[in-house]
Amino acid sequence: MKKIIIAIDGFSSCGKSTMAKELAHRIGYIYIDSGAMYRAVTLYALEGGLIEGDRINADRLSQAMDQIRITFRLHDQTGRPHTLLNGQDVEERIRSMEISTHVSPIAALDFVREAMVAQQQAMGQDKGIVMDGRDIGTTVFPNAELKIFVTATPEIRARRRYDELKAKGVETSYEEILRNVKERDYIDQHRAVSPLRQADDALLLDNTHLTREQQNAWLEHQYQLHACE
Ligand code: CDP
Repeated sequence: MKKIIIAIDGFSSCGKSTMAKELAHRIGYIYIDSGAMYRAVTLYALEGGLIEGDRINADRLSQAMDQIRITFRLHDQTGRPHTLLNGQDVEERIRSMEISTHVSPIAALDFVREAMVAQQQAMGQDKGIVMDGRDIGTTVFPNAELKIFVTATPEIRARRRYDELKAKGVETSYEEILRNVKERDYIDQHRAVSPLRQADDALLLDNTHLTREQQNAWLEHQYQLHACE
C-alpha cells in the first residue's frame, strides 16, 4: 500500500473529526484537526484582548502571527491528540462556545489562513496523513489522493454537538448551537479566501442517516481503494 493524503472537508459538527481520527488510528496515519488550529488562534486573540465584541484588531493579530505556534501531542492517558498553543495544552479551552462564536471571522482573515495553510502543508510533506477541515481538498492539498466532503442537515449536526457538549458536562442550549452551526456554515461558505466548497474530485458523504460504524466502514473501503491504485 502506498502512503497517501486523505482530505476530509465539510460543514461544522458533522463528525469529520471523529471519523478522521478513528481512520488515522486504524491505518497508522497522522491525524491533524485543522479546525483546532483556527480555534487556537482565536483563543490567542481573545486572551490577548484582540477581539472586542464583534471587532477584531486585525493589525495587531497580523503582527502577532509569527508568535503563534500550534502543535499537537498525544495525551499520555487517553492517547488522543491534544492541541498545544505555544507549548500549552489548550484542548479543553478551544472547544468552548465562546471560541465557536468567534472562530469563523478569525478563520476568514487572509493572513491567518496563509500562516495556517503553510503549517498544514509542512505537516503533510511525508504523506501518511488524514487532515480534516474546510479547505483541505481545495487549497491545502489539492493533489490529495482521497478527498471526502461530509455533510448532514444542520439540525442533526446541532443535535450531535449538543449531545457531545452535554456528555462533557457543558451547560448549553440546542437552539444556541443550531444558530452557531448555521452562522458558521454561512461565513465559511461566503468568505473571500478559500470558501468551504466541495472539491470537484471529492466524494460526497451525507451521513444524516448513517451510524458511526457504517460511516467508518465506508471510509475504510475508500481508503483501501485509493491507497492500492
Ligand atoms: O468542529 P467543527 O466542525 O464545528 O469546527 P472545526 O473543524 O473545529 O473548525 C472551526 C472553524 O474553523 C470552522 O467553523 C471554520 O470557520 C474554521 N476552519 C477553516 O476555516 N478552515 C479549516 N481548514 C478548518 C476550520
